[in-house]
Amino acid sequence: MTTFKDQIDKSKLPKHIAIIMDGNGRWAKKQGKLRTFGHNNGVGSVRETTEAAAELGIEYLTLYAFSTENWNRPKYEVDALMRLLVKTINKETKTLNKNNIRLQAIGNLQSLPKDCYKELHEAMKNTENNSRMTLVLALSYSSKWEITEAVKELVKNVKSGKLKAEDINEQTINSHLCTAKMPDPELLIRTSGEYRISNFLLWQIAYSELYFTDKLWPEFRKEDFYEAIVSYQQRERRFGKTSEQLKGK
Ligand code: IPE
Ligand code: IPE
Ligand code: MG
Repeated sequence: MTTFKDQIDKSKLPKHIAIIMDGNGRWAKKQGKLRTFGHNNGVGSVRETTEAAAELGIEYLTLYAFSTENWNRPKYEVDALMRLLVKTINKETKTLNKNNIRLQAIGNLQSLPKDCYKELHEAMKNTENNSRMTLVLALSYSSKWEITEAVKELVKNVKSGKLKAEDINEQTINSHLCTAKMPDPELLIRTSGEYRISNFLLWQIAYSELYFTDKLWPEFRKEDFYEAIVSYQQRERRFGKTSEQLKGK
């Protein structure tokens, strides 16, 4: 039996894959457990996906772990997620170093609890020289927040004379986003059968291929990740052109 892994064309890998990890709560509920049980088990899927991406040679893997809107969840769930984050980062930093993976984060990191911010900052510092893959955690992230911050910064620079309004172009805007130094994701995956973006990377996914799966995040395994990449590789990315143009006809 050929696996999805066998079908991947290594010469056509996306450089950047982003994932909306969704469905932890429903996965837990299905077994009569608390939502937090789902979050705890989601860590295994993070591990699997990170390993699979690094093994393949993906350069950037961005995981949506906590959105600006997620602060509105019940306090016990938010607290549990923050504790899980501290625990996981603390536990996994060694493995990240062993696998030569650099950890970065995007989002309103200042809004995280102090211990969480500290743990994250240390892990980023400890892994900053790793070069095989960059794992980006989106934490307290939302695209509208990110774009608002970028606009504020741009206006400040125009006011102070550092930047001319007429010189603002797509590149300038790009460079004011949290993802300034990263390529845009070619592939965006969302688990749990929801067909929405939930305020994630709105600018950066302008031309991404979207892949939706019914799998709930805690059941997402390496083969599911490979399947998404195979689907991506079967698509024709036209960027506004015609199919004939792309085939050089
Ligand atoms: C994703 O799973 C994890 C976070 C958003 C933090 P959910 O917690 O959203 O699980 P569902 O969507 O309610 O099943
Ligand atoms: C999106 O999931 C955010 C993360 C995966 C961190 P949600 O579960 O919060 O999204 P909605 O509310 O269903 O759109
Ligand atoms: Mg959800």
